[in-house]
Amino acid sequence: MFFVFPTPAAIADHLAHHLTELIRNKPECILGLATGSTMEPVYAKLLDHAKQHSPDLSRLTTFNLDEYIGLPASHPQSYNHYMHQHLFDRLGLRDSQVNLPNGTCTDLEHECAQYSAAIANAGGLDFQLLGVGTNGHIGFNEPGTPFDSLTHVIELSDNTRLDNSRFFDDPAEMPTHAITMGIRDILEAKEVVLVATGEHKADVMNLLYRTPADPGMPASALKLHPNARIYLDAAAASRLPQEALYHVE
Ligand code: F6R
Repeated sequence: MFFVFPTPAAIADHLAHHLTELIRNKPECILGLATGSTMEPVYAKLLDHAKQHSPDLSRLTTFNLDEYIGLPASHPQSYNHYMHQHLFDRLGLRDSQVNLPNGTCTDLEHECAQYSAAIANAGGLDFQLLGVGTNGHIGFNEPGTPFDSLTHVIELSDNTRLDNSRFFDDPAEMPTHAITMGIRDILEAKEVVLVATGEHKADVMNLLYRTPADPGMPASALKLHPNARIYLDAAAASRLPQEALYHVE
């Protein structure tokens, strides 16, 4: 399940090719998307591939994993803003094609129930792209989140708040809570790829390798999925035993 690529750019290229093919074979496909620094090269390459191959994007639907509570879509650190800036606007996707949880709605419980229902009503996710936190979170499912969880409100861990405060000019602005797709929503995707790059992800990848499926380590839920792969660059794979790795040239 652990695939090692020489560089983050090689992962981005591979994924961009795979996603472009997926869209070409099934233009009405439903993609689950992530944000964060790991995804920036992936989306940049996807734009290149889309320009080169011009797949029909008019029937595509996307669902993002998560959004901070309290940040309006216009906030530069909202995930809504990130997705429009890095992908949606540049691909020319219409607002009706893209979905993110709304972190400023007044009825959060309703928003969460509606979000998981919308994924199911769309026919379920064909593909889910994941990053991973240094504490093993996927989406914002922090350690301890039940594997049968649907979209829910989560209090961000101190670890996550510390990691992500780097994106905020004033770290005190870093939200305390988020809405995240649940682990069950993720596990119900037909195909899942988790990407981890950089030396700072090496310890959590080692932990993931050694942990059987256990809610204390959210990314380990992927061990229960029949079609999940983990894409690492050499730095993120540096603390894994060689026999666990499949090298992609
Ligand atoms: C973001 C998300 C998170 C990130 C994770 C890694 O939508 O779901 O799980 O993927 O926090 O973030 P980076 O890539 O910034 O290290």
